[in-house]
Amino acid sequence: MITDTTTEEMYEKLSRLLADTVPDFELRLKSELAAEINRLKLEKNAVILGHNYMEPALFHSIPDFVGDSLELSRKAAETDKDIIVFCGVKFMAETAKILNPGKKVLIPSLKAGCSLAASITAEDVRELKRRFPGVPVVTYINTYADVKAESDICCTSSNAVKVVESLKTDKVIFIPDEYLAGNVARETGKQIIFPTREPRMRFPNELDYQMIGWPGRCEVHEKFSVEDIQNVRKQFPDVVILAHPECSPEVVAASDYSGSTTAMIRYVEQTNAPRYLLLTECSMGDNVAAANPDKEMLRLCSVRCPHMNQITLEDTLESLQKEQFEIFIEEDIRKRALRSVQRMLEIGRED
Ligand code: 13P
Ligand code: SF4
Repeated sequence: MITDTTTEEMYEKLSRLLADTVPDFELRLKSELAAEINRLKLEKNAVILGHNYMEPALFHSIPDFVGDSLELSRKAAETDKDIIVFCGVKFMAETAKILNPGKKVLIPSLKAGCSLAASITAEDVRELKRRFPGVPVVTYINTYADVKAESDICCTSSNAVKVVESLKTDKVIFIPDEYLAGNVARETGKQIIFPTREPRMRFPNELDYQMIGWPGRCEVHEKFSVEDIQNVRKQFPDVVILAHPECSPEVVAASDYSGSTTAMIRYVEQTNAPRYLLLTECSMGDNVAAANPDKEMLRLCSVRCPHMNQITLEDTLESLQKEQFEIFIEEDIRKRALRSVQRMLEIGRED
């Protein structure tokens, strides 16, 4: 059972960080849940990995490690615990399972999907490979295992440019995020084409291109516009704007900095601007504000990822109690996906 001291300690910690933003009765309830999750975690020899987008009370209470996709993949690869509970979305839990076939990997909600992962199938990748034979496939980590299995190498938002440059080939297929691909193309000076939008006859000879993209988008980051940035800058001329590379190339170009979720957090921690605006899932702004009370964070709080939002303390407790929902991947797919993930892990971050 929950011991009062543990719950009390948790309540004190969460109050210190969140008293200005979360009502007290909710902090008490969440402290109890978090204390019980942490007790069960020890009892079951489990590790909890939490993505930077988790809601503030969860983010600051139960994960053993928090981070971006690349950091959490690395932690998943290193753990010696029996159970991995992934407080993130399904493709992240799948990556943990790809790296740890012998461990039980749990996700607290089956509804935690991702619009990018849903935008492409393994058959789509096979068709691209038929149309562009011999061109290596770089696949964003925000995809399911069967898509990773068709790929040569994965990347995350923290190493996409480095991964593309590591291939040293004339052309790469880069899937499925059209905006991340556009941002990589911009940074590396490559010309990108989107074959599903172009008449088939124009390929592969008629255009000079080095990247082949796919029209997937993050339903959160596609919402930000250059007009949003202009409006904010008009009201707060001294604001520093950070954009995730899943935002459009125009939005990234109009911002002051672009990087993975962890790269953005570090940027805020290591600089001293009068105020910041993060163009990304809005819980992260709350998490950064709680950990850095001396920094002023502007909010665009209508922008919440409905998938990350599925992961709650209540569901995480139930996940540990019932050991649900377990991730399973067919062994042949897992082994082929592992090659792409491992190749990526051998390449460091670029930020
Ligand atoms: P990061 O790898 O930057 O944490 O991004 C993951 C994600 O899903 C962003 O929407
Ligand atoms: Fe997917 Fe976008 Fe949500 Fe990230 S924020 S999990 S890319 S839908």
